[in-house]
Amino acid sequence: MERNTFYITTPIYYVNDKPHIGHAYTTILADVLARYHRLLDVPTHFLTGTDEHGQKVQRAAEQHRITPRQQCDRTVVRFQQLWERLGITHDDFIRTTEERHQVVVRQILQDLYDRGEIYAAEYEGWYCVPCERFFTQRDLRDGLCPECSRAVERLFEKNYFFRMSAYQDWLLQTIEGNPDFIRPEHRRQETLGFLRQPLNDLCISRPKNRLNWGIELPFDQEYVTYVWFDALVNYISAIGYGADPERFERWWPASCHLIGKDILTTHTVYWPTMLKAIGVALPRTVFAHGWWLVGRDKMSKSLGNVVNPMEMADTYGVDAFRYFLMAEMTLGQDAAFTEEAFVNRYNADLANDLGNLASRVLTMVQRSLGGTLPEAPAPAAAEEELVSAVLAAVGHMQSYLTQMQLDRGIAEVLAAVRAGNRYFDRMKPWKLAKQGDGAALARVLYHSSECLRIVSGLLFPVMPGKMTALRQALGLGEAAARPRFAAMAAWGGLAAGTRVGALGPLFPRIAAASETLAEAPRGKSAAKASAKAGPEAENLVTVGIEDFAKVRLRTGVVVDACRIEESDRLLKLQVEIGADIRQIVAGIAGAYDPDSLLGRTVIVVTNLEPAVLFGVESDGMLLAARKGRKMRLLTVDGEIPSGAAVS
Ligand code: MSP
Repeated sequence: MERNTFYITTPIYYVNDKPHIGHAYTTILADVLARYHRLLDVPTHFLTGTDEHGQKVQRAAEQHRITPRQQCDRTVVRFQQLWERLGITHDDFIRTTEERHQVVVRQILQDLYDRGEIYAAEYEGWYCVPCERFFTQRDLRDGLCPECSRAVERLFEKNYFFRMSAYQDWLLQTIEGNPDFIRPEHRRQETLGFLRQPLNDLCISRPKNRLNWGIELPFDQEYVTYVWFDALVNYISAIGYGADPERFERWWPASCHLIGKDILTTHTVYWPTMLKAIGVALPRTVFAHGWWLVGRDKMSKSLGNVVNPMEMADTYGVDAFRYFLMAEMTLGQDAAFTEEAFVNRYNADLANDLGNLASRVLTMVQRSLGGTLPEAPAPAAAEEELVSAVLAAVGHMQSYLTQMQLDRGIAEVLAAVRAGNRYFDRMKPWKLAKQGDGAALARVLYHSSECLRIVSGLLFPVMPGKMTALRQALGLGEAAARPRFAAMAAWGGLAAGTRVGALGPLFPRIAAASETLAEAPRGKSAAKASAKAGPEAENLVTVGIEDFAKVRLRTGVVVDACRIEESDRLLKLQVEIGADIRQIVAGIAGAYDPDSLLGRTVIVVTNLEPAVLFGVESDGMLLAARKGRKMRLLTVDGEIPSGAAVS
């Protein structure tokens, strides 16, 4: 990040099939990194695209009984539509069938051929069709392809070779002397290990009688270019190599080629030697991330476990999907995708922590300050923890970005969100409002809003849609969709008089599959069943004391209560439980006026999973007795402090 430009690339994806979560992950990661650099005011160029030549695409076309060109044109839109849906902000999308790319590939081939860097030779070796790669006998693992473990074919044919072996020592030294070139470190070691074995020359052609879907060699019409020799060039053809020197100089060398660990050798051995041979500087970093597994399994069509990113975005929302992928994977390692993990993280981080803070703060600014922020009061001792957690998150996010530890940066921001919730609970603004302490109330709401301003900026690259909505509600106007790191690093950015708007639930809680099942017996059919069975049916289920003991019951004191506008059944309560204040939504509006509840001792289930009702988070449940329409809250028989255990 010490450079003044940031050029980031994704691999270009094969158009043999529709995109899956692996493609979505790399592209979202690149998008998040690009967006963070824009927040830092670093001129950024983000390139993605499609790899349209080669055997995979030709095979897919044959299977679909269409031409390779049609296969490309049909599939490329699926990638483009997905990127649009996922909010990807690439500056350029390159297709290797475009003329601007093919010209450069031909130019490089001719140049290398003219200088003897490419030569013709009879080849005999093992070829893996799906991987489109040649292997020597030594490379094979148990006689199978070392990459995909499938059967290999013996081939004898004339081909063209790039003198890659001539660069072996140079490459070894370059990688040894430049720890940032391949990241993370264990991938650097993997390439170094590979380079300590003899390096062969690279076969860069395919005879047309075997494969004709590719860029024809400029010096032999009987051959097309090996798809990798063609594809890697996209990183420079797209930014004007050989055509627009000024543009090329502006962006090259790339700051980061993001790749999956499966394509390490092509990017850290083939590509640097190709660049060296044409006299072009190496990219600063090739970063190889791990794989998304489904549970413990590799994702594959045959296992039928391929995760469709479009479906995830449709079911859970684009931002939540982006958030999960970024927060869950430690860059460089594999990660397991399960819907259960997704729902758990969503509910914990987004519904409970961030969503809750946003809804509490915005609602109170509306209700108690008429939606207008006061003059910025200087933070004092009470704000110390909050301000330092939030500003520390700004610093951490910046340094974790440089280290490509995005998950850690996000964890720091969530820690700041939790500090925001703690501050709110500790300062009890609802109490201040009741007491009419306007100055203290304004101060708490200002600092809570300020916390939201900064964390929403920090999370904007990950969740641009939701964070823009939150920032718009915070009255940030133009800056809502264009946060800047510089503005986040200083406390007090919200101007006095800022109009704060209302916002629906940002992240409504998702019911986990297990809860849905648990709910089932409460449905109509269960009601019918128990009615038929008579009152004794109620006794059918018995629970042991150890099961009953799992329910945590505490005494609480209602400190604030109001109606929920859209519902005539629900009240929103703030309940003090020992040192804690919980927001609880209770279906008691028919039986109690809000004001009549203030100061009452109630019994609260405190370990129920939080839920959102009418867009309001509820963290707990009150116990009540009911018969028909009549309902009375459970309370205690005499004085006892809030937070007392009930058993
Ligand atoms: N066309 C080549 C790349 C050429 S780059 C000059 C290629 N394409 S691909 O369509 O197979 O997609 C490759 C990339 O998709 C992988 O490198 C990786 O980034 C991503 N992933 C594919 N499956 C993946 C997972 N299961 N998990 C994470 N990413 C993986 O290879």
